Amino acid sequence: MGNKIRIAIDGPSGAGKSTIAKRVAKQLGIDYIDTGAMYRAVGYKIIKKQIDLNDTKSLTEMLAETEIDFVNGDIILDGEIINDKIRTNEISKMASDVSALQAVRDKLIDIQREMGQAKSVVMDGRDIGTNVLKEAEYKFFMTASVQERARRRWLELSEKGEKVDLAKVEADIIQRDHKDSTRKINPLKKAEDAIDLDTTGMSIDEVTNNILEVIKWQ
Ligand code: DC
Repeated sequence: MGNKIRIAIDGPSGAGKSTIAKRVAKQLGIDYIDTGAMYRAVGYKIIKKQIDLNDTKSLTEMLAETEIDFVNGDIILDGEIINDKIRTNEISKMASDVSALQAVRDKLIDIQREMGQAKSVVMDGRDIGTNVLKEAEYKFFMTASVQERARRRWLELSEKGEKVDLAKVEADIIQRDHKDSTRKINPLKKAEDAIDLDTTGMSIDEVTNNILEVIKWQ
């Protein structure tokens, strides 16, 4: 592929964004940037350092000393691979909380824009099409029913050995959707020029092919 392309995939948690984005990136031979993992990384560091979210000074200092990068699909926080540490229910909640903070968003959005300028990428998150990569060549807004998203998340957590109740996962998703889409800064929202993709009842292959078809024909 000659020209640089940026593909933005936004949507609520559990819609299948990261699984699909990873596949699309692999098929096209370009990088995948999981922006949710970046908010999780900050959440993880805040818990580890026991920083109070209202303590602006400590938060700002911590952010100034934070380095986040992706190398070969791994997320690296200050030199440490943290893939396995950021997928817990506790970090999900903390990531949602920190993602509402302006200082955190400013820092992460800068890094994300730099990544999107340097190379072709598939980037997934909540505000990629509306804010981070407004000029992305392709934008998708991926959704699925709350029940299906809860089932997927529950399966993911169970496979990792985390024992959680499905009803609790569903309640958490509803609460997080609400927080993510009603927060003041860069809320979860479909970009006007994004293509809607409801993945309820669809297989990973079907959704991936749907996106690849759009990219091939547009
Ligand atoms: O996609 P995820 O569940 O890993 O995202 C974790 C949290 O980060 C989620 O609550 C929303 C937030 N987020 C965000 O505000 N903006 C993004 N671009 C990506 C994620």
